[in-house]
Amino acid sequence: MALHSGGHLTHSFDTYQGSFSAQMIRALINYCNLKKGAIILDPFSGSGTTLIEAILLGFIVIGIDINPIACLSSYVKSQLLGYDLDDLIQGSKKYFNFEYYNKFTNALQCSTFLKLEMKELFYLFLYIRAFLAQQKYDIDSYFAFKSLYRDIVKTLQAFDRLKNRLDINLGRVSVICDNKLNVLKRFKAESIDGIITSPPYISMVDYIKNDLPVLQKFFQKEDVNIAKSNQIGRRFKNPEKTLNMFWSKMNNFTGETYRILKDRSKLILVVGKSNLMEKKCIQIAQDNGFMLDKSILKRYRDFKKNYLKYEYIVILEKT
Ligand SMILES: C[S@@+](CC[C@H](N)C(=O)[O-])C[C@H]1O[C@@H](n2cnc3c(N)ncnc32)[C@H](O)[C@@H]1O
Repeated sequence: MALHSGGHLTHSFDTYQGSFSAQMIRALINYCNLKKGAIILDPFSGSGTTLIEAILLGFIVIGIDINPIACLSSYVKSQLLGYDLDDLIQGSKKYFNFEYYNKFTNALQCSTFLKLEMKELFYLFLYIRAFLAQQKYDIDSYFAFKSLYRDIVKTLQAFDRLKNRLDINLGRVSVICDNKLNVLKRFKAESIDGIITSPPYISMVDYIKNDLPVLQKFFQKEDVNIAKSNQIGRRFKNPEKTLNMFWSKMNNFTGETYRILKDRSKLILVVGKSNLMEKKCIQIAQDNGFMLDKSILKRYRDFKKNYLKYEYIVILEKT
């Protein structure tokens, strides 16, 4: 029963295909050797692994994703670390009545829904996880909701104690739900200190299709269609077109990252166990002015899924 994954802290509150290993991301952030107050960006932030690790280390972090379900998860999971637990629990009874969520049916807009209050977003997150559990694994949604709520409160209580004991100073997070390229164009030149991200692996996973039942239930139809057609890695009938579109978008993306990164800052791409992705990403990055720092084929144990994983980590530097 996959209500949540086996990761630590808020990482474990959902499951997402292609998510990072938190330990690996922490090591990569440390490798960037960033100063206090530095801004980290993950333009394909998915379930928010980079966001969570970055705020745990005290940095300012921005996540972007086209999939609103991923944005909701990453935002809630990272904000929860610094949220007042008493406030979250107080008056929670109304959120256990599932009629409350009818007001969201076909009503949410991708670009604005993250402006809802954190408490509302948290319970919506729980409801959506419960809805997905019912759809995907045939688990009673009310049971799933209660069980997730219990686990999350327990984890947050433990983290609260730890936060006080270790005097952890959390960073800040913001999440933008949009088509990555549109958003990157709005960033100032040389404004970002480090980018750590994992682009889609060509057309291997259709992230919007994976979450389609829940997207169609809660979000405005037009927004879902836009997300579907702007996804990087969108599959076309003609395989050649799929590849050409993918690499053309990756080229635009790399060009934009070069513009917004500060000099000598790092662009780190985790590209899975794909030799083609590794070689082609390096070539595109070098064509756009980046220098290759190193490319590593990393073998590690994925604690969430408890199996060995291989991943190319391509570390580039703006020169
Ligand atoms: C490999 S996953 C990232 C997983 C993430 N590293 C994590 O730990 O969960 C790639 C992400 O890219 C997103 N994506 C695809 N096309 C996009 C686009 N045009 N703009 C922004 N995000 C996009 C997908 O929704 C997906 O969440």
